[in-house]
Amino acid sequence: MNEKAFVESQIASIRETVGNGIAINALSGGVDSSVVTVLGHRSLGARLKTVFIENALMRKGEPDRVVKIFAKMRIPVQLVDARAEFLSALKGLTDPEEKRHAITHTFYSKVFGRLVRETGATFLLHGTILTDIEETVAGIKRQHNILAQVGIDPEKEYGYRVLEPLQTLRKDGVRKVARILGLPTEITKRIPFPGPALATRIVGEVTEERLEIVREATAIVEKELAKTRAFQYLAVLLNDKATGIRENQREFGQIIVVRCINSVDARTATPTKLPWEKLLRISKRITSIQGVNRCLYDLTPKPPATVEYI
Ligand code: XMP
Repeated sequence: MNEKAFVESQIASIRETVGNGIAINALSGGVDSSVVTVLGHRSLGARLKTVFIENALMRKGEPDRVVKIFAKMRIPVQLVDARAEFLSALKGLTDPEEKRHAITHTFYSKVFGRLVRETGATFLLHGTILTDIEETVAGIKRQHNILAQVGIDPEKEYGYRVLEPLQTLRKDGVRKVARILGLPTEITKRIPFPGPALATRIVGEVTEERLEIVREATAIVEKELAKTRAFQYLAVLLNDKATGIRENQREFGQIIVVRCINSVDARTATPTKLPWEKLLRISKRITSIQGVNRCLYDLTPKPPATVEYI
């Protein structure tokens, strides 16, 4: 693929399709939505409204970090605080599919739908890539990104059309395009992070307190493992507690699982053989989080496990 030619042809095509209209896109800071944001911005300038929806499920400092990266590129991003809406939709839910559905529904039908109406956008730019389409067709993924999969016909429901400029690319192609668009390495080299964010790493109910624990643990794991060449690494909060002892007091505490995998495309994965010292250090740091007294390392490949826990 010639990335420059790809960029030029996509810009021409977005311009032609959108005409004088307004388009909207949701930026998560992942490489796909970041590339779409830059392409859309170069095509439409201020007629592209880019929003970052803070859903309460993000990693530490993520919303601000992403907005700043784009501000440096002179691309304005509107930060939308929808934390209360997502938390209330997740309240009381423990079933994995119900949790995922609540997040998708809140995102598209509530928050994003409202933003589309407010901005008057008639086009939505979306970062669907070829692998998303293939895996959805093959039934490997509960889809993630394609609206039809969640039973939404955007044109009928919201009056906007979806444009998917990356639908012929795979991840490596998207990363190449990202580089020539001038996106920084913290985006082009970012490890995969799922749309439903930290909710995929909480077994059981997603509450503010439980999010805070998994957010802290995630920050520790990401920092400690940043220099490994692993495909992905993460922390998970289990829905169980275990007895521990701290300062001579028995306590019934939270359990965090650390997962670090090697993989090419996340369809299959194997656990990474991390140095023992590294594991002990991570365990020590994680069990210093308030209320956490156990840290486990997940040795399961995919299959039979998946990467995420819900
Ligand atoms: P699983 O857990 O299905 O994950 O083995 C495979 C890869 O996909 C990521 N993942 C998601 N990505 N939206 C996304 O954009 C999602 O809902 C989602 N669920 C899982 C996961 O992090 C891994 O890289």
